Amino acid sequence: MACWSCKSPDVARLIKGEGEAEYFQGKWAKGGPEITNSIGCTDCHVPGTAKLRVSRPFAERAFETIGTPFAEADRTEQQNMVCGQCHVEYYFEKTADRPNWVKFPWDMGTSVDEIEVYFDSINFSDWTHKLSRAPMLKAQHPGYETTKLGAHGRNGVSCTYCHMPRVQNEKGKWFTSHKVGNPLDQFSDTCERCHTQSKEYFVEQMKTQKARVAELKKEAEAQLVNAHFEAAAAWGAGATEEQMATALKDIRHAQWRWDFAIASHGVAAHAPQEALRILGTAINKAADARVKLVRILAENGVTQTVALPDISTKAKAQAVLGMDMDKMNADKAIFIEEVVPVWEADYKANNGG
Ligand code: HEC
Ligand code: HEC
Ligand code: HEC
Ligand code: HEC
Repeated sequence: MACWSCKSPDVARLIKGEGEAEYFQGKWAKGGPEITNSIGCTDCHVPGTAKLRVSRPFAERAFETIGTPFAEADRTEQQNMVCGQCHVEYYFEKTADRPNWVKFPWDMGTSVDEIEVYFDSINFSDWTHKLSRAPMLKAQHPGYETTKLGAHGRNGVSCTYCHMPRVQNEKGKWFTSHKVGNPLDQFSDTCERCHTQSKEYFVEQMKTQKARVAELKKEAEAQLVNAHFEAAAAWGAGATEEQMATALKDIRHAQWRWDFAIASHGVAAHAPQEALRILGTAINKAADARVKLVRILAENGVTQTVALPDISTKAKAQAVLGMDMDKMNADKAIFIEEVVPVWEADYKANNGG
């Protein structure tokens, strides 16, 4: 059920009606017949009014944790917070009183480093990697956290200045554009309000920023992929848990950082320096793991380089990892063709259309 949480105003409606304890209970399919509307007014507004709100109690708790309850935040920060209900990193709690509740891991701060320390301190992992057996963290989409660290975030330019600018209708009346999209497509209402450079200049600059982030992303991925296969080879050669522990921790941290940067949608526009910093540390930590693995492999009698299997295409990589794509694609087809229409009919029956 936690997976629905950023997908629909029906989520806010259900939580208000039945409370979080009931809402978070059960599998994903439980929500199907009730959660069908795409993001809408009451995700961001008090129903029936233009007043902004945080509609998820778990988001409100997170903003309180970092010292800015919504009601006390200033207007631009409130504009960031409505987006930050969903465009954030989160995990599913495993405590007895909040099983599978959504939580933002902000107890120690919102930077990649602080969240890493927090997850380590509670011994949390999202899954165990099949090859390396490293206890992994999955970063979701920490856009709110990384945007804060960019030049605009640090200067009080909220998400809405760029993604929901103030515009005028034919009669000259000002209103907030609700067509959330690429701000460069609305250049004269966004960037040009504050900057004197041309659209072409910024489009070119955006390309450069994206290319730089993509370059370090690839470097980090190459190091990480090798590290996972080298760890698998070390296990295969008889390495012990004790020998592997610190190398696996490096892999965990390296992949967490790679993921945090890359899963932050728009990071090359929002905070390119932070993205490059995070990716730099990811490359470094993956390299640390590989140095340790060379030693562990040697201690277990492997002195030649670990060769990568053929993972030159997505299909080949899926096969190497033993993923049954035929079954997964068949399941997906059943879901789309048979399950979704039933949910939609049930929703209409339950909620009158
Ligand atoms: C993703 C969040 C979000 C959603 C969804 C959303 N709004 Fe807004 N809305 C905003 C923000 C942000 C503002 C600007 C608030 C401010 O000026 O501080 C705003 C402003 C408004 C205003 C005030 C007038 C104006 O133009 O500034 C009205 C009225 C309004 N929205 C109606 C709606 C309606 C009706 C819907 C659904 C059809 C909706 N909104 C959906 C975020 C949202
Ligand atoms: C209730 C959760 C929620 C809120 C609140 C929300 N978003 Fe989103 N947003 C999403 C989801 C989910 C998607 C992905 C939609 C998809 O991929 O189909 C998305 C997609 C986007 C996209 C990509 C759109 C595209 O056309 O590709 C942008 C940009 C965006 N959001 C900006 C914002 C901004 C700015 C705010 C605040 C004013 C905001 N969002 C508030 C959930 C939310
Ligand atoms: C200074 C302007 C600016 C601000 C402020 C800003 N963005 Fe963006 N955002 C952009 C630009 C430019 C892009 C990249 C468009 C492109 O891909 O060329 C982008 C991309 C995105 C994307 C990815 C869209 C996609 O289709 O990949 C999301 C999601 C997003 N922003 C959400 C947010 C949120 C949430 C905030 C506030 C926490 C925010 N943005 C603040 C300018 C801004
Ligand atoms: C509400 C005003 C405002 C809007 C809208 C705005 N900016 Fe900015 N921009 C700023 C401020 C303030 C700074 C920080 C200036 C400084 O550091 O001296 C800045 C800095 C920048 C920088 C330098 C950033 C860096 O990392 O050093 C770039 C590039 C930039 N903006 C591009 C854009 C683009 C592209 C858009 C539209 C998508 C945009 N801005 C929209 C106010 C704005």
